[in-house]
Amino acid sequence: MRPETQAIRLQTERSQYKEHSVPLYLTSSYAFDDAEEMRALFAEEKEGNIYSRYSNPNVTELLDKMCALEGAEAGWATASGMAAVFSTFGALLSAGDHVVSCRSVFGSTHKLLTEILPKWNITSTYVDFDQYEKYEEAIQENTKILYIETPSNPGLDIIDMERLSKLCKAKGILFVVDNCFATPIIQQPIKFGADIVIHSATKYIDGQGRTLGGIILASHEIIKQIEGFARHTGPALSPFNAWILSKSIELLPLRMEKHSQNALEIATRLSKLNGVKWVKYPFLASHPQYEIAIKQMRYGGGIVTFEVEGGLEAGRNFLNNLGLFSLTANLGDTRSIATHPASTTHSKLTPEQRQEVGISDGLIRLSIGLENIEDIWEDVEKALA
Ligand SMILES: Cc1ncc(COP(=O)(O)O)c(C=O)c1O
Repeated sequence: MRPETQAIRLQTERSQYKEHSVPLYLTSSYAFDDAEEMRALFAEEKEGNIYSRYSNPNVTELLDKMCALEGAEAGWATASGMAAVFSTFGALLSAGDHVVSCRSVFGSTHKLLTEILPKWNITSTYVDFDQYEKYEEAIQENTKILYIETPSNPGLDIIDMERLSKLCKAKGILFVVDNCFATPIIQQPIKFGADIVIHSATKYIDGQGRTLGGIILASHEIIKQIEGFARHTGPALSPFNAWILSKSIELLPLRMEKHSQNALEIATRLSKLNGVKWVKYPFLASHPQYEIAIKQMRYGGGIVTFEVEGGLEAGRNFLNNLGLFSLTANLGDTRSIATHPASTTHSKLTPEQRQEVGISDGLIRLSIGLENIEDIWEDVEKALA
């Protein structure tokens, strides 16, 4: 089956009731036929469900779909994207280890790298996202992971995954890619050499702003290590949220194509408008990493960033003048969303740190939804007038 079909047709085995749509397995544990089966399952001599902190049919179905879409051998699901990031680090790093990361990472990932992991003597070095020689220089004897986001949130920086994966292979370290902004419909990092792919499923995988979720995809061997950490630390995804996410994936290919079509149209129109200082979108030829974007991405994705003339005040006025767009901290929803990262998601960074990751005070992030393009545009145009 091709990926679009797998996104729809991979399904937990039908029960005796022959349901067409998958049921919700809202159970914390599973019954054993006898003492011998119970022993064999715990001894991992036999495959099967024991307890929903370890596995659940709805979670397994979600992971089967994500593995198929990302081209991964195995996966693990968590209660949020940050639980996926933390479980990856927690499982694969020990005291004294070191991480090299692109500087432009999501705000909570930044907190994890700079404040939480150092409590266990795990250190990190940031590299400006496009300084490829600097990544090599930053790798030390004790470096275990090179971590990137592409496209980054909210700067939309694009990193050449193939180039960095070669460096990681040569140095014998793991290459981890947060693929939240693109989803596997737009890019499959494993094809470009990534060892581990991380998702905040909260965003496009859900696509309707209902649930939190996180997913880690990698080889069987790596997922076994993640499992060893996650089974006992408990970041499990609930069956209900897994059920929602798995149903959402049925429409992911269609949604990502339409989000990207709408976003490209809005970015193109914005770039022709007076009063707009600059517009950034991966599939606009003016994007500084356009060549890399078209090499590794199928579409440009649903996020557009831009800055209005007039700085912070003008940016705030734009947000206040919007009618259709929601002002909310999420992204990847069917509903268009506008945010001001400097005063919200990235407010914990100092102004200098924000500048380093390309977040100017007036930067606006638009998550373009699936409403009629003319309604989306009218709202943007009116708010800028
Ligand atoms: C790129 C990226 N990674 C990770 C996360 C964290 O995901 P969650 O909010 O599901 O914990 C986010 C959330 O916005 C994100 O944008």
